Amino acid sequence: MKFHIITFGCQMNVHDSQWLARALEARGWEEAAEDEATVYILNTCSVRDKPEQKVYSELGRIARHAKRDSRMFAAVGGCVAQQVGPEFFNRFPFVRLVFGTDGIANTPNALERLAEGAEDRVKLLDFMDIYPERDAAVDESTTLPETRQAFVNIMQGCDNFCAYCIVPYTRGRQKSRHPDAVVEECRALAANGVRELTLLGQNVNSFGMDSGGVDVSFAELLRRVAAIEGIDRLRFTTSHPKDIADEVIEAFGELDNLCPSLHLPMQAGSDAVLKAMRRKYDMERYLDIVDRLRQARPDICLTTDLIVGFPGETEQDFERTLEMVERVGFESSFSFKYSDRPGTASVNMEPKVDPTEAQSRLERLQELQNAITKQSLKKLVGLPAEVLVEGRSRKQEGDGVSWRGRDAAGRVVNFTSRRESLTGRIVPVRIVEAKKHSLTGERTGEPW
Ligand code: 5AD
Ligand code: SF4
Repeated sequence: MKFHIITFGCQMNVHDSQWLARALEARGWEEAAEDEATVYILNTCSVRDKPEQKVYSELGRIARHAKRDSRMFAAVGGCVAQQVGPEFFNRFPFVRLVFGTDGIANTPNALERLAEGAEDRVKLLDFMDIYPERDAAVDESTTLPETRQAFVNIMQGCDNFCAYCIVPYTRGRQKSRHPDAVVEECRALAANGVRELTLLGQNVNSFGMDSGGVDVSFAELLRRVAAIEGIDRLRFTTSHPKDIADEVIEAFGELDNLCPSLHLPMQAGSDAVLKAMRRKYDMERYLDIVDRLRQARPDICLTTDLIVGFPGETEQDFERTLEMVERVGFESSFSFKYSDRPGTASVNMEPKVDPTEAQSRLERLQELQNAITKQSLKKLVGLPAEVLVEGRSRKQEGDGVSWRGRDAAGRVVNFTSRRESLTGRIVPVRIVEAKKHSLTGERTGEPW
């Protein structure tokens, strides 16, 4: 059976899709281009209105394949599926499976049964009380990506209920995975040649702080994974400032392979807005974390998420966000206009910010961020960096091959080499130029 997966949203979704592809391949299915597939899988995101609308336009587009092949059917998974559920069956008759985030472990079996005709329609939307373990992601025969990078889930769901956020409703309560299962998966990946690991969860810093009976802290888990032989780079995402422990901050100064970068969503710079958002920290606490991170690891690269136009946000509140973005000096940020999500607390909060005003705030914020990004990248010119090569650059010009990779902090670096195969290797370079969102390097060391 040929399948095609379309993924929206966060790294958790990207990782879920990768796992699903491997699990189907293990059953003899084959990943195919869109025009050649019989089974279409959409892994969806509902964190904001825009990605949710895309699901419907994609399904409209896919509908034409149903005419070409009567066996064709689609599965809708992820956050929108969790919310909308069997409604999809009515609106799009070719949708025959809906699965939520806790249902993914059983999705390969369900797809098989549907393809065999053993079942007509299936929904996998129940939340589980404990982390639903899936089939092992790797064994000795698994071919891993050439880039030698991998994601590992450490938890599922979220208990925070930030006023604007739909995630606790679409991903359920927080469930930490058993630390031994995490470490075992990381070991198996390292044994198969993976050298960069990213630990994933909605709020990794509260690992172990749920009813799952896990008594290992996130800092301890980090230490156990960092000690695995062959892991050159370790990252994790996403962190909530209220839960980051002193030991995790200190780990940035202690663990050589823990990458000097942290994505720490700030959301807003005004204490009044943070309170209304139910973020459970104020700027004093946030800035204290930033200062201590920089003490532990002076070269740490900080990035963030920001929302403008949250209900009740005044011009003064917004200016406080600008001030704080400058004070912290984030290297980059994702910024969004607030959007009402069904069922969340902020839907009932007033006054709503005028959409034109919100748009103008977003533009002002992004302009400031671009200037800060430019400055921070410029400071790196002349410095050495180690680049884990991810593949060939999009643009190829001049002599040699142009390669694209990331430095330890995750910044994109392009450089040229005469070598024909460098993917998955760590290459020393010197930074010679800063572009708008990337760096250019020159090889140092070996005459490559
Ligand atoms: N409106 C706008 N942005 C949102 N985010 C989450 N919910 C909303 C919403 N309702 C943003 C937050 C979060 C990121 C993943 O998406 O900044 O960190
Ligand atoms: Fe989107 Fe959040 Fe769901 Fe990820 S967890 S897919 S960001 S809604």
